[in-house]
Amino acid sequence: MSFELKGLDKLSDQERMDELINFIKIQLDDELDSLALMSNISSFIMASIKNLNWAGFYFLKENELVLGPFQGLPACTRLALDKGVCAKAFRDEEITKVDDVHNFADHIACDSASESELVIPLFYQDNAYGVLDLDSPIKNRFTDIELDGFSKIGKLIEEKIYPF
Ligand code: SME
Repeated sequence: MSFELKGLDKLSDQERMDELINFIKIQLDDELDSLALMSNISSFIMASIKNLNWAGFYFLKENELVLGPFQGLPACTRLALDKGVCAKAFRDEEITKVDDVHNFADHIACDSASESELVIPLFYQDNAYGVLDLDSPIKNRFTDIELDGFSKIGKLIEEKIYPF
């Protein structure tokens, strides 16, 4: 496997996002194992996108969101469905962007460095079954580039990674 992650420093945010989408498409075409795919996808995100401190997955199990593969500091293993940004995105079935987590009443701080957050719900047969969660140590980090790019990434993931 040879992905040119090193050259990313010179790219704009949009070009980095385009590269990330290409990396993820190649992985999804090359591998079928969900755990391997989610592990590498979280690593590709952290290696490609600037100013993130956490990127990873939560999946619905036993009426909670349970931690999946991720990159970053250790995180809460289970999130209740009535509290926090991930649960809100999951319940509302909508991409949820929080520009300043300190202004979100029941944000769950797994990493105290987090200042802004973007959560992308993942769907199987029109029902949300998990989320992709991104945290940044910078307020207002997530722009239209990330909203559009991670929305595309969510769609690519849904085609290959199913509830388990
Ligand atoms: N901040 C999230 C919890 C998950 S961690 O950020 C990894 C939330 O409020 O749901």
